[in-house]
Amino acid sequence: MSTNMSTKLETIGLAKTYRETPALLPTDLRVAAGEFLTLLGPSGSGKTTLLQMISGLVEPSAGQLLIDGRDATHDAPGKRGIGMVFQSYALFPHMTVWENVAYGLRMRKLPRAELGPAVDSALAMVKMQAFAQRLPSELSGGQQQRIALARCFAFRPSIILLDEPLGALDKKLREHMQLEIRRLHQELGATFIYVTHDQDEALTLSDRICLMNQARIEQIGTPAQLYDRPATRFAADFLGHSNLLDGVVERLADGRVALRVGDRLVPIGPSPDLPAAGAASLLVRPEAARLTTPEDGALAGTIREVVFLGSDTRAIVSLGQGGESASAADATDAERAHFTVRCPRELTPRVGERVGLAWDHGRATLLTR
Ligand SMILES: Nc1ncnc2c1ncn2[C@@H]1O[C@H](COP(=O)(O)OP(=O)(O)OP(=O)(O)O)[C@@H](O)[C@H]1O
Ligand SMILES: [Mg+2]
Repeated sequence: MSTNMSTKLETIGLAKTYRETPALLPTDLRVAAGEFLTLLGPSGSGKTTLLQMISGLVEPSAGQLLIDGRDATHDAPGKRGIGMVFQSYALFPHMTVWENVAYGLRMRKLPRAELGPAVDSALAMVKMQAFAQRLPSELSGGQQQRIALARCFAFRPSIILLDEPLGALDKKLREHMQLEIRRLHQELGATFIYVTHDQDEALTLSDRICLMNQARIEQIGTPAQLYDRPATRFAADFLGHSNLLDGVVERLADGRVALRVGDRLVPIGPSPDLPAAGAASLLVRPEAARLTTPEDGALAGTIREVVFLGSDTRAIVSLGQGGESASAADATDAERAHFTVRCPRELTPRVGERVGLAWDHGRATLLTR
């Protein structure tokens, strides 16, 4: 978040414990006005708990919530200027689309004269004006989710919380709705906090991603920061395809530093914050690596599989010494390991071919453990 943006919402040590178990450890988070922040993380990491404490549906065990700089920790949910959209659309089945959207506005005592225009404009925003008189049961899943979005946008909340809103949709429709949600975010100018465990969705939508793990924030940053410079092995593994070489950092006689992986020494590029020793993992993304001759590579291996993905080809290289001699049972972890390389279309690697693996040091990240 850049410092010249105003803070919309802030949590200070916000925490929730159920009986003895922390669902969210004390958490500090600052969200800028108009930002699109995504809470990303595995099941049970505390995403919904954090979102529901912001909404007021769950009472915090400790800590504070500020909205526009004001303490809102104990405000009633309806008093926070927050709209929510869930995975289950929770539309009223006996009400038309139009009435579903109007319902929340009536609850908020919108003057009768303003009701019609507000509903129509919310339906227009999600391109569902033509469906105003249908019942939810007469709509597809994607259309129902649009109505759920319209119902939330209709009263113009300044903060919108979305908990896996596209989770029930198939991949194609989900991708389409992602673009719709991005457009709506731009149109509304509201602050969005979006929960997902789909990394592609997080990368597509977010200004920043807040990666959660085991009831706390693992790392927070722009999609590029999390992808290119993950701070931990967990972050590297969770986002994108990762080649992670586990080893021990060693300082060589000539002063250079290398990572010992099994019986191999993998050179590590100059890095100011390099640890002198200790266990570490080197992260190399498939698109940062390339195939070379076995002699020229930092590592060598044998192509085990070639996967055509349409836009590019992936070569999966086994890092063992090659040959059929080493049986799976007595191979070391390093030898069993695989390394994926994204290859340009014109290159056609052959299964069984002996190759080297190389990458620019600047595009590899050393993660200490
Ligand atoms: N009402 C509750 N009572 C007891 N434990 C709870 C309650 N709600 C959540 N938890 C626990 O708190 C932890 C965090 O749950 P939370 O729902 O925030 O996870 P999540 O990240 O949203 O996961 P998912 O991706 O599966 O939705 C989990 O271990 C969960 O079992
Ligand atoms: Mg959840």
